[in-house]
Amino acid sequence: MKRILSGITPSGDGTLHIGNYLGAVKQFIDMARTNECFLFVADYHALTTIQNKGQLQKNVEALILNELSLLKGFLTPEEFNRLVFYRQSDLEGLHPELQTILNNVTPLGLLKRAHAYKDKLAKETVEDDINVGLFSYPILMAADILLYKPDLVPVGKDQKQHVEIARDVAERFNRVFNKQLFKLPEPFIPESVATVLGTDGKRKMSKSLGNIISIFESEEVIKKQVMGTYTDPTRAHATDLGHIEGNMVFTYLDFFGEKEKVNQMKKAYGEGQIGDIEVKQYLYESLLHYFTPARKQYDELKNNPELVKEILSQGKEKAMMIAGTTMKEVRETIGLVNAYSSQDKKKSTITIDDFGSVDIRVGKVETAEHIEKSEKLIRLHVDFGAFGKRIIFTGVRQFGYTGEYFIGKQFFFVVNLQYRKMMGEESQGMIMAVDSMDGKPLFISGETLPLGSRIR
Ligand code: ADP
Ligand code: TRP
Repeated sequence: MKRILSGITPSGDGTLHIGNYLGAVKQFIDMARTNECFLFVADYHALTTIQNKGQLQKNVEALILNELSLLKGFLTPEEFNRLVFYRQSDLEGLHPELQTILNNVTPLGLLKRAHAYKDKLAKETVEDDINVGLFSYPILMAADILLYKPDLVPVGKDQKQHVEIARDVAERFNRVFNKQLFKLPEPFIPESVATVLGTDGKRKMSKSLGNIISIFESEEVIKKQVMGTYTDPTRAHATDLGHIEGNMVFTYLDFFGEKEKVNQMKKAYGEGQIGDIEVKQYLYESLLHYFTPARKQYDELKNNPELVKEILSQGKEKAMMIAGTTMKEVRETIGLVNAYSSQDKKKSTITIDDFGSVDIRVGKVETAEHIEKSEKLIRLHVDFGAFGKRIIFTGVRQFGYTGEYFIGKQFFFVVNLQYRKMMGEESQGMIMAVDSMDGKPLFISGETLPLGSRIR
């Protein structure tokens, strides 16, 4: 299993079409089935071109929804849970922090040779019209990559050079600080990525050219896009012999139709036995059929923002474990940590001994009372058998829990926390819970286990 990392810039409007799917998303999904994959929304990167609050919000929201729907729609739940999907800016400034450090081992010349900058220069002609964000974009991208030490970075052809710059920067850092800290990343350009032509049959499918077939639009919109697709201009009547080559309906059907049926249709079309409407109708049906799981996910996620937030929050936590560890290593390596540094309180990893120092025990709730002055708190009287009794507060009434729910049941409690004052009273521990998909805490049952027994 390899570690794969890629980012997507929300510079377009965030909605995806079948060109994006076939050209990029599908390859990533295939890799995610058998590898450890990190995929993030590069929202800091979008700032090089988008400097408008509403637009940035809208693009990022749409991109998150579109990507997640495809990933959830086509991956099994197990594959999806292995994938780490997160938003770059959620990582508490970690990516820009590494960028700031890498700035200092990056020669100016390296950036001046970067395509993104050179292309812009060619278009805008004066350097003064180009912002520094765009200029240093490859260093932010290097930080995005190096923090996670991936084996492969799948990107489109246009991004290959940026991954090579990241490699170069990593090499320089390792040399300057005399430590093999960063893994040198490899760009990976999936073979099968060919540019998908648009419904005009002439140019690359692209939102700005209006020649797309959407994935998540209404059925009416998709039908219209399919019906407007370029077929065979030499054909005036359905009985004329049709051409398959360059006929976009068949190009798309090769991806989305059923092989046998498509072959039959190609034959019949070539012999003048079926018309455009028939093949287009079949393309429309095939597309809806193919994307049904993703479109279902789209409706579900769109109606459930809490679920999307939960996925992003879990992604952030998982990403933080890896990126936080690398960042700590970087700070130590370059000398930011010294005799006066305070202990890093937010450790991203802990030792087995650290974990062993947490005392978690099974307790039975005897009685429970609501704290009237509070909207959340419940006071639990917990019996730990030979280990004694404790009063432990939990703030969960806002999730619909009442004291009744807890009484007579057994749960797990952390019992060696410093006591904490809650509404003037001491809480002598904490009940353990996990988050459900919608963020509501679910309590871990300790039924049938001996009271006071300890997790080990
Ligand atoms: P663009 O490449 O036009 O700037 P995006 O940045 O929105 O479009 O594309 C996101 C991803 O989808 C990129 O990896 C890009 O290569 C891929 N992609 C976009 N349009 C197509 C297309 N018509 N055919 C194949 N891949 C495409
Ligand atoms: N620059 C990439 C693009 O425009 C997106 C991106 C940002 C990225 N950071 C990355 C891709 C890190 C791979 C790895 O497509």
